[in-house]
Amino acid sequence: MATPTSRVRAAAGALLVLAVAFYAPLSFTYFWNGHSGPNLQDDVFKLLISPTFAFGHGSGHDVRPDTHEAHFATFASTYVTMWIHSVVGTTALVAGLSQFSERLRRARPGVHRTLGKVFLLCCLGVAATAASYLLQTPATDVFSGRVFEEVLWILAAGTAGLALLAFVSIRRRDLVAHREFATAAFALICSAGWLRLEWMSVSLFWQPGKEMLNLFGIQFAATFLITCSMLYVQKFWKGNRRADSPLATTGALRIAAAVGAPGIVALAVLAATTTDWSAPHAYWFTPGWAPVVVGCFLPYVVHTAWLARMARQAQQRGNGSAAAAWRTYLAGALVAPTTGALAYGFGVLVHGMNTQEAWYMVGYLWGGTLVLAYVAHATVTTRWARRATPTPATAGGELQPA
Ligand code: HEM
Repeated sequence: MATPTSRVRAAAGALLVLAVAFYAPLSFTYFWNGHSGPNLQDDVFKLLISPTFAFGHGSGHDVRPDTHEAHFATFASTYVTMWIHSVVGTTALVAGLSQFSERLRRARPGVHRTLGKVFLLCCLGVAATAASYLLQTPATDVFSGRVFEEVLWILAAGTAGLALLAFVSIRRRDLVAHREFATAAFALICSAGWLRLEWMSVSLFWQPGKEMLNLFGIQFAATFLITCSMLYVQKFWKGNRRADSPLATTGALRIAAAVGAPGIVALAVLAATTTDWSAPHAYWFTPGWAPVVVGCFLPYVVHTAWLARMARQAQQRGNGSAAAAWRTYLAGALVAPTTGALAYGFGVLVHGMNTQEAWYMVGYLWGGTLVLAYVAHATVTTRWARRATPTPATAGGELQPA
């Protein structure tokens, strides 16, 4: 009989399939009309959001006041790279989605394995083409500016790193680690589609244009995507996970809180003393406190409290392996304010960003720290688990639900 949890999972799976079915044709055909479009995505968003959103201010088709060219001009010299990028990225999305089908995994293990290889190779291809584009394009010419350029570098490194970790762990027959790394790699591959869904949902009540919506979206992107990974992989923990991770002890949580505290103080002081909320580069940024409070502070507090609750509930249920995982993720959240403050400093000191622009680095690095906590947990606990507990059930080397 279907339980509430299995119904939620089925609904989430169906939504994911619909989201991929919506975005895959748009990204696959993105560069089919030449480097400056317009393309299918523009036509769809013209219809679903507005003509201004698709072609007006901040859309990529509008002429920038500083360069007197549309953003699409940046693709003139990187056209082939980006054509490959969008096609390989779409292939990764579709091949990655298929890996979540337990029916396919059981019925056609060979197909599952082949699509898994395609997915991992495409992750590397997406990251390599992204890096090539970023190396050839000045940071200020990247869509949504320098902050977004940093985010894309981190995303490229994260996607390639997770794909390699997934590959290495399956070569070592470490199935639990493989599933966790591959799930997170797929979550990052979903980031392009996730931003489009964010455009559509936020545009219902706020229409600042694509460039600004990208910057607002990155405050939540990594956190949302890695949280989905955490919720998905938790069903495989039972019996496959050690409960005594050194990253999940009370001492580790205290250290994490001590590391994060100076970050909270630094960010509070920076927020209180920032005066140029209406940044000179108004082309990309809206003035005011709202983006920082709504896009950074409130979500951080709510999400961290939720992680603490998940850890406590797992502990109360006596589920040690789940408690270890949630406590490690919580430790990541506690460290995050300091990572965010360091990212802010990096933006100001290395890129010469103004203080308002640098704020957009903070939220993304909060999510980035959660991804690191997830990777740390996967690495530490599975390496130990391999010594002490049997490898999870396998059939022909295929992953099976625990
Ligand atoms: C996960 C790692 C990824 C990284 C690091 C990455 C990086 C990039 C970069 C640097 C650009 C150019 C930004 C600019 O316009 O200035 C870009 C654009 C693009 N990417 Fe990706 N990408 C990733 C994943 C994907 C995936 C999975 C898809 C397809 C499903 C995709 C589809 C596209 C498309 C269609 C564009 C063109 C225009 C735009 O949307 O900005 N990317 N990406």
